[in-house]
Amino acid sequence: MTTSIAATAAKLQDLFGAAPAVAVVLGTGWSGATSLIEDARHLAYAELPAFPQPRVEGHINEIVVGRIGKQPVVMLRGRAHTYESGDCAGMAGALRSLKAWGVQILLQTNASGSLREAMQPGSLMLISDHINAPQRSPLVGEVGSERFVDMNMAYDRELREQAQQVAAARQLDLHQGVYCWALGPQFETPAEIRMFAAWGADAVGMSTVPETILARHAGLRVLGLALMTNMAAGLSAEALTHALTLRQAQLSGQRAAEFLAALVASLAELPSFQP
Ligand code: HPA
Repeated sequence: MTTSIAATAAKLQDLFGAAPAVAVVLGTGWSGATSLIEDARHLAYAELPAFPQPRVEGHINEIVVGRIGKQPVVMLRGRAHTYESGDCAGMAGALRSLKAWGVQILLQTNASGSLREAMQPGSLMLISDHINAPQRSPLVGEVGSERFVDMNMAYDRELREQAQQVAAARQLDLHQGVYCWALGPQFETPAEIRMFAAWGADAVGMSTVPETILARHAGLRVLGLALMTNMAAGLSAEALTHALTLRQAQLSGQRAAEFLAALVASLAELPSFQP
């Protein structure tokens, strides 16, 4: 693993030069953001030894490197989900390679089910904190005291404030709340959703949490954005299907992608983030 991370970082450096400070993981519905990248260059995960080869419908597995406004960025299309293999560390190699290359900030995006009436499908939620419902960690087997990662403020306060300012400037209603990871691939039962709600969850989905843990362990700053594609199980009469989440993701994806691009561009001005 360590050798493939070094080789992957070296290849990224060879092909693209100095690392962009910002990496974005594009979840379901968010991939339109790649079309907003200027001077975009594409590379398949297959060319990067430490990257995963996920196979979820609706995902293309490639990185796109370029810039948005003044901000250089690398976007990852396609992530390894725990439900594909049972392995929750599927993104470890990719995230550690990005860090080794020189990336500092990880913006994570996903599609989620909403537990809040006020957050109807199409809404965007800034992740303020998460619940690791399966209580699984991609750091099991790691050694050294760094594995005891502080998860206070896992989602960077300054980046969240920045996201709220960008949303306000665009008059976009950006909710904020707690994301609960469910392993999947089956959707939740209504009883599980009632339990997650009692725990304090506002949204539920099948990704993001393992990557946030890996990113914090690697020393990356993290921001999370969730696009509500449906009301969670039991909260609407509609049957939950993958097709429904993809359809809603398509309907709202462009607005989400434009907001994401504006946020990335704004990071070039972030006080803590001047080269
Ligand atoms: N549950 C879990 N994952 C999801 C959902 C959901 O309702 N919607 C989109 N991803």
